[in-house]
Amino acid sequence: MDLNAAALTRAIARGKHLIETRVSCNACHGADFGGGVIVEQVFVGRWVAPNLTLGKGSITREYTAVDWDHAVRHGLRRGGRSSSMPSTDFTNLSDHELSDIVAYIRSRPPVDKDLGSVKFGPVLSFLLAFNPDMLAAAVIDHEKTHAVEPPQTAPTAEFGEHLAQVCRGCHGRNLSGGELEGDPNMPIVANITPHETGLKDWTEEDFIRALREGKRKDGTAISNYMPWRAYGQMSDAELKAIWAYLRTVPPVEKGNH
Ligand code: HEC
Ligand code: HEC
Repeated sequence: MDLNAAALTRAIARGKHLIETRVSCNACHGADFGGGVIVEQVFVGRWVAPNLTLGKGSITREYTAVDWDHAVRHGLRRGGRSSSMPSTDFTNLSDHELSDIVAYIRSRPPVDKDLGSVKFGPVLSFLLAFNPDMLAAAVIDHEKTHAVEPPQTAPTAEFGEHLAQVCRGCHGRNLSGGELEGDPNMPIVANITPHETGLKDWTEEDFIRALREGKRKDGTAISNYMPWRAYGQMSDAELKAIWAYLRTVPPVEKGNH
């Protein structure tokens, strides 16, 4: 039996699960990881996510482990300049999770596609000049060391806190939700802390149903802006862990982030 091959197969499966449920690299980099145009508008600019496969136009061909770490967890391009990828969502991934993600991306067929580089038009250049914190690299603590392993997979608040990192991008640092700037069609983000204006009366069952079926406690539909279809594919242990963690956070009134 080839132990290395077996280990790689497991790493690829873990990376696939991670990407499909939690860190949707392909929401931006394309379903086949060949790259994607996120925004292309005259005044705003051209926001493109590069080709991560090994085909023509690949940005990752020469990548070392350090380059992957910089790109995904630090928001830095190869060479050290700040990138416009929202790496704040990924900065708490453990080494093991990152290498699983890379194993999965590396296992994908090469795609020949070169979308060119990101170009900021006047609107984004103006915004960035006054809000340098818009770039992940400006807010990430680059000195902080990363865990080698994620917390053990079990329905514990500790593992849940690790998983819930990806909720903060929209629900806010303290998870109390509120209006999010950027996309005017996005509904007001819900409060998922145990406050009256949040999930105080919810049970674990209500929560799991919300993420698996996209329905609130009262049966109404949750908008697709909330990525419940992806999260709903998490395992029972993962969803229970997030719920266990959400019960431990301080209750905060909606929109207070
Ligand atoms: C919200 C969209 C989005 C998501 C989600 C996203 N990326 Fe990116 N990524 C980008 C954009 C945009 C760039 C180009 C940034 C730039 O050049 O300013 C980029 C650049 C990169 C680069 C190249 C960095 C360099 O050297 O120039 C890598 C590697 C990368 N992303 C990997 C990933 C991985 C792995 C994931 C999932 C864990 C991921 N991305 C998730 C948008 C995204
Ligand atoms: C891309 C933004 C985004 C991310 C990331 C996100 N959410 Fe949401 N979430 C929303 C929005 C927007 C709503 C409100 C949807 C609506 O009003 O239909 C919402 C609603 C919810 C609801 C329903 C609550 C209610 O009372 O309506 C739950 C539960 C929830 N989110 C949990 C989570 C969890 C857990 C995570 C992380 C694993 C997460 N969300 C990540 C945007 C997001």
